[in-house]
Amino acid sequence: MRKQIVAGNWKMNNDLAQTESLITALKNQAKTTDAEVMIAPTSTNLWAANNALKQSSIEVIAQNMHFAENGAYTGEVSASMLKSIGVNTVILGHSERREYFNETDELLAKKVDAALAKGMRVIFCFGEELADRKAGNEETIVGNQIKNALFHLGAAAFQNIVLAYEPVWAIGTGETASPEQAQDMHAFIRKTLADKYGNDIAETVSILYGGSVKPANAEEIFSKPDVDGGLIGGASLKAEDFFAIVNAF
Ligand code: 13P
Repeated sequence: MRKQIVAGNWKMNNDLAQTESLITALKNQAKTTDAEVMIAPTSTNLWAANNALKQSSIEVIAQNMHFAENGAYTGEVSASMLKSIGVNTVILGHSERREYFNETDELLAKKVDAALAKGMRVIFCFGEELADRKAGNEETIVGNQIKNALFHLGAAAFQNIVLAYEPVWAIGTGETASPEQAQDMHAFIRKTLADKYGNDIAETVSILYGGSVKPANAEEIFSKPDVDGGLIGGASLKAEDFFAIVNAF
């Protein structure tokens, strides 16, 4: 069976004190599902978060990293640096990185390679913009994002890759893809993988949905057969809401 995953992407929110208090609140929540739970605090708080959650089943993951091992890349963080503080999973390709930091498919391919080379797990994000969907181009856009950044990889690499479909028009807008829209796209993504790597690989890759997932809509979205979990932004900043989503499976 595919892993069910709920990951909270905190984005650029929560200073150290806020991180510590949200983690305390998360530890007080009861998990009633088998879903793997992850949180992605900002890079300055990864170390503290990881220490605070050492005895817990919540994994601390990074929101981004650079492709180089080290060197003259002011402001950046490498896979080795993340690994050295016990962070073994990284989100790559988030639409905010693509939009505000000009991250291209080519750059993301290098980042994916660097993370996998260090034995890290990658949550790889992609998704179409509203204009793409209005024009009926969403599958072409999503298919190309996946092919351009991932299809140079061998099949074995997909053991360490989780995909996250996040339609840009649904991120932080309160507008969610309908469960049917999510399912249709997830099925298309799985078929895209199957066409290249075969059914056996495609069936093992978890595909998360992200974009205005809330306690009120999580259950219906997660009930779709090709939706294996969620990447949660705003609702991951409240422990009760986040765990209501985790427990929606
Ligand atoms: P929201 O849940 O706030 O829409 O954000 C989704 C997201 O971007 C998660 O990575």
